[in-house]
Amino acid sequence: MKPRQPPKARAPREGANSTRYESLEDVSGSPGGPLLANQAEVFFEVEMETGTKPGASAPSELRCKECGSVYPLDARYACEECFGPLEVAYDHSGLDPAESRRRIQAGSHGIWRYADFLPFAERPPATRTALEPGLTPLVRADRLADRLDIGELWIKNDAANPTHSFKDRVVAVAIAKARELGFDTVACASTGNLANAVAAHAAAAGLRSYVFVPADLEEQKLLGTAVYGTTLVGVRGSYDDVNRLCTELCESRPWAFVNVNLRPYYAEGSKTLAFETIEQLGWKLPDRIVCPIASGSLFTRLGRGIRDWLDFGLVEGELPAFNGAQAAGCSPVAEAFANGWDACQPQRPATIAKSLAIGNPADGPYALELARATGGAIDSVDDDEIRAGIRLLAETTGIFTETAGGVTIAVLAKLAERGGIDRSERVVAYITGEGLKTLDAVRDDFALQTIAPTADAFAAEVEGRDLAAATAR
Ligand SMILES: Cc1ncc(COP(=O)(O)O)c(C=O)c1O
Ligand SMILES: [Zn+2]
Repeated sequence: MKPRQPPKARAPREGANSTRYESLEDVSGSPGGPLLANQAEVFFEVEMETGTKPGASAPSELRCKECGSVYPLDARYACEECFGPLEVAYDHSGLDPAESRRRIQAGSHGIWRYADFLPFAERPPATRTALEPGLTPLVRADRLADRLDIGELWIKNDAANPTHSFKDRVVAVAIAKARELGFDTVACASTGNLANAVAAHAAAAGLRSYVFVPADLEEQKLLGTAVYGTTLVGVRGSYDDVNRLCTELCESRPWAFVNVNLRPYYAEGSKTLAFETIEQLGWKLPDRIVCPIASGSLFTRLGRGIRDWLDFGLVEGELPAFNGAQAAGCSPVAEAFANGWDACQPQRPATIAKSLAIGNPADGPYALELARATGGAIDSVDDDEIRAGIRLLAETTGIFTETAGGVTIAVLAKLAERGGIDRSERVVAYITGEGLKTLDAVRDDFALQTIAPTADAFAAEVEGRDLAAATAR
């Protein structure tokens, strides 16, 4: 190892036997852990072999979450015995935690650093592209914490991904798997962010793609999908109609639907958000997590990721309290939580948080289980609270989130107001998407003041008005 300057290109060379990565020196003893922004960048050359290491962990099979039946690691998502959902099972017996931590820290600056915990025999997979998501900022939010009377608050800003939402994580994993399984066409049913990510990652991989969305999506999300050269299909109906259509098409088309027949692999991508949080906190756990819920995949996989690392010995402690956030206009999981139900009753969505508008959430029952088992809760907030949440985050942290983040911050505020957070707790709130994608949500809140290009106009119309407003107060 010899110190050197950061190189210009970080992208892996496809097909190479070994790839040169940069690794930040382990400074996990420093405040906030090893990977915070603004940290002095000390780069070292590390050779990280692509390909399976002898003795390393391995994904072993697909396993039914309900009855435990096992299946090979191919494109399937439902148990043939009981129709339960399938998830990837791993055998970590060949890897020890110290070696695993070393491999992570020597890895790429993105999700592939966690390749030992992702569903590929070859790690990192040769089928990945250079469009690597991950290592998004975890920022300490003291001004927001003061406003809400929270002791320690962190914002995980996952809008800082290639297509500006956490969906890049799940899609990068699903598309690498699709290529490994030999598919040349990928597809998805999306509420918007998944559409952006599938179109972009398919473009990076050189795959054909079909993206199905409700036709009434935000313009920014439609344009931000079409630009990548996908076949974008607007369906006249709700997301649940789109999902039904895609499940039907999946039966008759030889395509990899990232969130249908590749769902077990897609879901694994969300675990990287948990891994990163732990690493960025200096290999420590939060006490409480606040996270938005649409299908419940992200929420439950944050739990699974933390559980995996606890079981494996990479981190010590216990599962944080899990607080889920939904929009009142589409809140089947919050409704079931409030009523003590084990399953959700489907709803017809009507909310500005379109990215969370799934009326019949696939992972709803598991989200309920996780919130209850960890002493968390699942709450909902109305459209005005969502807009206020967007403003509150922007004004106290400088982070502009889309409506889903407004839901998260509004639920965080609600929780704090009702005394649901102890001041001793370390809280992490997940911002999963970018504000520029949902401009309609804030359009009516602000008016642009225009003036003539003169100092007099500025003094009279801007400073004069500020003074008048201050006097009136
Ligand atoms: C910005 C954003 N946050 C959170 C979610 C929730 O995702 P999940 O379906 O995994 O619950 C979505 C889903 O589309 C989303 O777009
Ligand atoms: Zn089963």
